[in-house]
Amino acid sequence: MSKNIFRRKSVAKILADVECGFSDAEHPGTAQAHLTKALNVKDLTLMGIAAVVGAGIFSTIGEAAFQGGPGVSILFIITAVTCGFSALCYAEFASRIPVAGSAYTYAYASFGELIAWIIGWDLLMEYAIGNIAVAISWSEYFVNLLEGFHISMPSYLTMDYYSALTAHEQVANLTAAGNVAEITDRMRHAAMAFETAPGAGSFKLIANIPALAITVLITWLVYIGIRETKKATNAMVLLKVAIVIVVILLGFFYVTPANWSPFLPNGFGGVMKGVSGVFFAYIGFDAISTTAEECKNPQKDLPKGMIYSLLICTVLYVLIALVLTGMVSYKDLQVGDPLAFVFAKVGLTKISYVISISAVIATASVLLIFQLGQPRIWMSMSRDGLLPKAFSRIHPKYKTPSFATIVTGFVVAIPALFLNLTEVTNLTSIGTLFAFVLVCGGVLLLPKEQAQQGRFKLPYINSQFIMPVLFLAAVIAFWKPMLNMFTADDVHQKFPYMLFILLSTSLTVLSVIKKLSLIPVLGLLSCFYLMAELEYESWIRFLIWLIIGLVIYFGYSYRNSALGKSAQNE
Ligand code: ALA
Repeated sequence: MSKNIFRRKSVAKILADVECGFSDAEHPGTAQAHLTKALNVKDLTLMGIAAVVGAGIFSTIGEAAFQGGPGVSILFIITAVTCGFSALCYAEFASRIPVAGSAYTYAYASFGELIAWIIGWDLLMEYAIGNIAVAISWSEYFVNLLEGFHISMPSYLTMDYYSALTAHEQVANLTAAGNVAEITDRMRHAAMAFETAPGAGSFKLIANIPALAITVLITWLVYIGIRETKKATNAMVLLKVAIVIVVILLGFFYVTPANWSPFLPNGFGGVMKGVSGVFFAYIGFDAISTTAEECKNPQKDLPKGMIYSLLICTVLYVLIALVLTGMVSYKDLQVGDPLAFVFAKVGLTKISYVISISAVIATASVLLIFQLGQPRIWMSMSRDGLLPKAFSRIHPKYKTPSFATIVTGFVVAIPALFLNLTEVTNLTSIGTLFAFVLVCGGVLLLPKEQAQQGRFKLPYINSQFIMPVLFLAAVIAFWKPMLNMFTADDVHQKFPYMLFILLSTSLTVLSVIKKLSLIPVLGLLSCFYLMAELEYESWIRFLIWLIIGLVIYFGYSYRNSALGKSAQNE
């Protein structure tokens, strides 16, 4: 058994399987339609921005700015550097293995089948679960927008049951305690959804119909073809970036520098509380690697597309963070629509309205890219026999992974109708960071290759001396909190940090012995550090998710793996 589960798939075999569609030993060379090669570096950069700029910058940044104050802009830079290391590692893989499976395929080549399955399962968290959150966030902005046009939907058709029930109970409790002043408009609105919904007793028909509708619409677009998807993406991105730039330029005129002082009102600890929200805002540049088989020149263009989109988004994000925290006090920013809110607060209600339109477009484009990415990962897993064959079926006319696209639609649309997903940002962030950790680790395991013309090559910097210096500097700077950690009351909650210390010690030793490449080492450690900064509860949920994945692997995928079967046949 152990022989098979850690068996690696060579890069040559991965590329050959893409050519014939399946790697199933029982159906060698099964003829398979191929995806359409339609994307160039400009399209890929725009797709990267499409996937990145969305619910994060329009929503979750509010909570992060409230926690960290103006210093949240530092967190945007730290996160960008972390993502930058990972983007370079993704780029190295994408240029060596230009196929649709993204981190899943990269893991198959470097760590073997079991880890590849884990990463494929983990990416479901980034793409599908992340999209549930994005669909819900889209719905919120869309309903606000409709209200701006004086169109209102029954509130019980615009949210999930749990939010409505919670708000109903909160309003009842606050009213009973005589604290009516504490009831916010948002609470009242959600409570009304519960009270007006059809149904009996506590069984009520409450569902988020706009979230369902946008998911169906986007899934249809992705289903009918990559060219249609590309056109829609390009248009949406140009519009949202233009609006973001206008917001930044206009916002600077309304900045009161006094709001930037103190820059770190809650210290560095406060800034780091925003990790999940800020990281969520960056997720997406990696998703374009799933379009590798639809790129005209993936080995050159994919790395460029990922890096350009990350750079552009970083500049926009840091500027937005500064404008936001400069226009109002950070204390006012704990809202779901911070950008629209600050402009309304300084009296520019019309601009706030434009921002809501932009948010609707921005979140729709994020949905689009993730709905595009998820089926392509499933398609790759199915080619390897880890998922049923239907997942790698390509539509004869539209040339898209048809069955996998429809399943993705269901997987996102149905939960988006009913779920309350405040926690989903955390879950998506931890899942994506884990993927980044494995991709950076995978690069360290790749055999050395000479640079080739027309292909991206990750620059090699020897970590032999740099890592020990960095390690010692970190120990000198942080020895006290590190020691305190072991004596803290909530010592079990510090487990992720302990793992981080263990990992950094081991990697420093390995760097000295094996002269590891510095960029993936730093990428791996910085992503793991951000994971450690996430709530302990998210780790538990993440582990449960992985255990479910393992059950499916050993229940189905292990037995059906094409690599396992071909090994038996040899
Ligand atoms: N980065 C994407 C967003 O913020 C996931 O919506």
